[in-house]
Amino acid sequence: MTTTDEMPASGVTTATLPCRALEEVPRSRDVRRASAPLVSGGAAATPAPAVALHGVSVAFGAHVAVRGVTLSVPGQGVTALVGPSGCGKTSVLRAVNRLHDETGGRVTGRVLLGELDVYASGTPAELVRSRVGMVFQRPNPFPAMNIFDNVVSGLRFCGIRSKSLLADSAEAALRQAALWDVVRDRLREPAVRLSGGQQQRLCIARALAVEPEVLLMDEPCSALDPIATGKIEELIARLASHITIVLVTHNMFQAARVSDHTAVFLLGEDRVGELVEAGTTAEIFSNPKDPRTRAYVTGHVG
Ligand SMILES: Nc1ncnc2c1ncn2[C@@H]1O[C@H](COP(=O)(O)OP(=O)(O)OP(=O)(O)O)[C@@H](O)[C@H]1O
Ligand SMILES: [Mg+2]
Repeated sequence: MTTTDEMPASGVTTATLPCRALEEVPRSRDVRRASAPLVSGGAAATPAPAVALHGVSVAFGAHVAVRGVTLSVPGQGVTALVGPSGCGKTSVLRAVNRLHDETGGRVTGRVLLGELDVYASGTPAELVRSRVGMVFQRPNPFPAMNIFDNVVSGLRFCGIRSKSLLADSAEAALRQAALWDVVRDRLREPAVRLSGGQQQRLCIARALAVEPEVLLMDEPCSALDPIATGKIEELIARLASHITIVLVTHNMFQAARVSDHTAVFLLGEDRVGELVEAGTTAEIFSNPKDPRTRAYVTGHVG
């Protein structure tokens, strides 16, 4: 991951997403595959990031929550967003899949999903959300739906009606979320009968069913015990081989365990959130450039 200064300033639940019918614009991993290796001046160029933020700010009315974030999230692997409460991590995450459209937050700057300009006037939010799944802090299965209907809700939203396709997709997503063996005989039971950790894996399955290229996870383990947390972390590691994960976490050990790259956010003197430093997780934890990063990751501030 890189932060760059050269650019000028400028979600929905997983169930409101999808679908492949909307995929006229190439996915970033396809773009990356198609264009890599790019050769420029004799050297292989860095592959296009899966998500790029250029001077992104988020404001709620007169209150600026986060300002001027420029950050490249590399394709696949896990990028952790860390920082103290209120510094804008969730606001940044929600800017990626246009969740602020629904809640009145104002996003300025530029967000690119592969080559797709997320906030361009011709870009439908549904297209963005078909490519970016989101998992929230607290498991939020639809309480009136059974397990199966939860998993396929996104697919149904985009018009898929084939029973066999829905069944196949549900099984594949539940297997990816390491939940199939637990629920294969309980698919018609209410989702809320699952344990909290199982519900969170169900929400991950729901997000995966629409085959997103990017999965945003906002403190997905904060409501879970250590065993359930371990399962989610294993899952994140497996998914990261073929999907780009952006993970907000307050747990520095978790960031160190599961992420490849880390972005550190802090509150500035005016109480506005800003990105202080980003890099490989190894660099951020062992050799940060900014003293504020060192202080934060070693637990001396925040
Ligand atoms: N919908 C909203 N309306 C008004 N202000 C908001 C809204 N959402 C967030 N904020 C404000 O924006 C700032 C950043 O909030 P945000 O939730 O992004 O922080 P965070 O880093 O995710 O914090 P935490 O670690 O506690 O989850 C806070 O001051 C918060 O009060
Ligand atoms: Mg948050």
